[in-house]
Amino acid sequence: MKVVIFGASGFSGRAILKKALSQDYQVTILVRNRNSIPMKASNLIIVEGNVLDRNTVDEIIQNQDVVIQCLGIGGKGNGKQSTFISDATKIIVDEMEKSNVKRLVVMSNVGAGNSVAFQPWFFNKIILPYFMKWLKVIIDDKNRMEPVIMNSQLDWTIVRCPNIVDKPAKKK
Ligand SMILES: NC(=O)c1ccc[n+]([C@@H]2O[C@H](COP(=O)([O-])OP(=O)(O)OC[C@H]3O[C@@H](n4cnc5c(N)ncnc54)[C@H](OP(=O)(O)O)[C@@H]3O)[C@@H](O)[C@H]2O)c1
Repeated sequence: MKVVIFGASGFSGRAILKKALSQDYQVTILVRNRNSIPMKASNLIIVEGNVLDRNTVDEIIQNQDVVIQCLGIGGKGNGKQSTFISDATKIIVDEMEKSNVKRLVVMSNVGAGNSVAFQPWFFNKIILPYFMKWLKVIIDDKNRMEPVIMNSQLDWTIVRCPNIVDKPAKKK
């Protein structure tokens, strides 16, 4: 299977890349700096570029089976509103639809879309807006991103992750 990963140099992207390579998938990644990827593998193609460059995205997804989007704004970001993730996702979705690449898996956050209802009220009303403003900014952009995916013709999965820790996987 041929897989493209956007965000492969990030905290979660590195784990996703390692897993994909271990499954013997043919993996292509787009990174801004190839030195951010220390590993080499015969089933890994590294392309240097920016995901906001539509032509690069178009080239990289040609003849691929699956696209994984685990882009981020550098952990917690700088606390300022950003449309980076939703803008990048729009480009990816557009180019996939044009090129007839159907399968898309995207990382989102718990708290986006209707998952807000699963959070305790004091988290939504007090902790998020007053004590975790950086996360609110990230969720705001996921709320712009998710409809772009849901309204597309793609075969998509949005994974709304909670906080991720770098420890061995549990069975659940
Ligand atoms: N980490 C968590 O605990 C957690 C929990 C829930 C949800 N999430 C969500 O999951 C996603 C991934 O999180 P993360 O913590 O792994 O993110 P991260 O460490 O911030 O990684 C961000 C990735 O996006 C890439 N990127 C940023 N701008 C780019 C651009 N213009 N062109 C190409 N690549 C670009 C970065 O590449 P560079 O190396 O070039 O910067 C990096 O590979 C995020 O959307 C986050 O909100 C994360």
